[in-house]
Amino acid sequence: MCGIFGIIGKQDNAAQTVLSGLKKLEYRGYDSWGIAVKQADKLVVERHVGKIGQAKTTLSASTIALGHTRWATHGGVTIGNAHPHLDCQQKLCLVHNGIVENFRPIKEKLSKSHKFNSETDTEVALHLIEDKAKTQSVFKAVQSSFNQVHGMNAFIVLNADSKELIAVKNGSPLTIGLGKDANYISSDVWALLDHTNKVIFLEDNQMAQISQNSVKLFNAKTGKSIKPKITTLDWQAEQSKLGKFHHYMEKEISDQPQILDNLSRIDPAIIAKAAKAIKATTKSYILGCGTASYAAMFGEYIFSLAGFDTEAIIGSEFSKNKQLLSPDLVFLMLSQSGETIDVVEAVNLAKSKNMKIIAITNVLGSTLYRKSDTKILLRAGQEVAVASTKAFTGKLAILIQIAYWLTKDFKAGQKLIDQAAKATKTIITGSTRKQIKDLAKQIKDQDNMFVVGRLSSYPIALETALKIKEVSYIHAEGYAGGELKHGPIALIDQNTPCLVIAPNDQTYTDSISSAHEMKARGGFIIGISPKNDPVFDIHLKVPDLKEATSIPNTVIAQLLAYDLAIARGLNPDKPRNLAKSVTVK
Ligand code: F6R
Repeated sequence: MCGIFGIIGKQDNAAQTVLSGLKKLEYRGYDSWGIAVKQADKLVVERHVGKIGQAKTTLSASTIALGHTRWATHGGVTIGNAHPHLDCQQKLCLVHNGIVENFRPIKEKLSKSHKFNSETDTEVALHLIEDKAKTQSVFKAVQSSFNQVHGMNAFIVLNADSKELIAVKNGSPLTIGLGKDANYISSDVWALLDHTNKVIFLEDNQMAQISQNSVKLFNAKTGKSIKPKITTLDWQAEQSKLGKFHHYMEKEISDQPQILDNLSRIDPAIIAKAAKAIKATTKSYILGCGTASYAAMFGEYIFSLAGFDTEAIIGSEFSKNKQLLSPDLVFLMLSQSGETIDVVEAVNLAKSKNMKIIAITNVLGSTLYRKSDTKILLRAGQEVAVASTKAFTGKLAILIQIAYWLTKDFKAGQKLIDQAAKATKTIITGSTRKQIKDLAKQIKDQDNMFVVGRLSSYPIALETALKIKEVSYIHAEGYAGGELKHGPIALIDQNTPCLVIAPNDQTYTDSISSAHEMKARGGFIIGISPKNDPVFDIHLKVPDLKEATSIPNTVIAQLLAYDLAIARGLNPDKPRNLAKSVTVK
């Protein structure tokens, strides 16, 4: 959460460069934004509330600039709370991603001698640096302040009296980009690709001193110098462009046939490595947050149905299993960004117990990627829309292939993913697309929706409901079909849209019974299924692809959520209150 971008270069368009970097990072938070530049020995700042949109910067020529796009944690969405913040002397400026957990006692101590202009924890960290810089260098003051604050934080400091940026991080991500006549720093690598493909991923407790033509790294605890590890990426900035689409969500849904086709040809050795680790253990855990937690749950069902003891855990609830962890157990961590704080914390804990970690992630070089033993990349290209789509189906494709390897039929699993790729293309480009658009127009004014599925379709029901609520703001709930009669059915009313996910498996008959129960209470039944049934008011047909039917089922759900957002006049790429990449608790 929160996006940070900085540049120190030769050209005097630093503010413009930072602004375009912030536009790329805006999906990390869009409550407010701001930029600071150094002009001679002065710092000049502009700050705004709301999304960046097509904004232009009013700041004049400079070769050094720092910017921030905010997802509010401490303090409301106001100009005063927007970053960058300035110290009392207007000589130091700080942008921050994270939470300074012990900000209160520090603020109490400093409030007699410092003037606070915001309600943020960030400003407290800045005045702490300012205070320490009275008796030591700014670099040392940043170092000792960073070591004094608690929590997962990334700081970048610009000092009006120097020609460098000072960065330090623990938990929250920061990546340095090495350009020709300039160096850059960003919360994520995607924003650097317009400038360079040579990057340094800053590790926890590393500090960087960045000037126009050098980058020096240090251990923030000991001050010892560290040799930077440069990674060259083969990614293209081009892949993240919107092209002919109206929104990134629409583009990313449409990327899926290609991604699935690629995943159906994934190196079998990668799948085998993960599967062998699961086979060799008595129990595996599978963890993710939000959408990724539903992929984890899907994994639990299909691995368990294949005879392998697996438990899905929500990232933020991970500590319930703390006492049960041991080195012989295996952890599968699922995260599109590879930076979600609850996933990173779980990785750290699992590593401290010497557990094997298998990562399924989309971001090469992310924290999860770096810390795991087995790395499976989704290779889905950047996900810009806040709501995750292509990363979810990519995870399903990998989990299905692992499950099929475990049941000694890897080739059959591969074939199903290949068929799922074709099926999603047919849905996105064929007559089902129009059916979904019409359906969205028909139900767009409903206040509530229900989605039911059983066994491996239950996580798909949860994911469907999440997608609908986050982009269309319609209250949608996903339930295990069998649970309906235990309470939720009380909420079904005349014309309440009820989505029934009914694959052609052992759950079909019971799912149709659930549909009848909801219809008897007035529900408007939308069946997502290979087979039609008279109980469906609308039938959205998918092919029967065994476990992989969940992939086209999900694509239908994604399109419905997208079309509902459009029909309700909303921007599906930037839903209210949300940010992609949740890097704070
Ligand atoms: C919902 C959504 C979120 C993310 C969650 C985890 O559409 O995108 O629920 O899935 O924040 O993010 P990653 O996968 O990056 O760990």
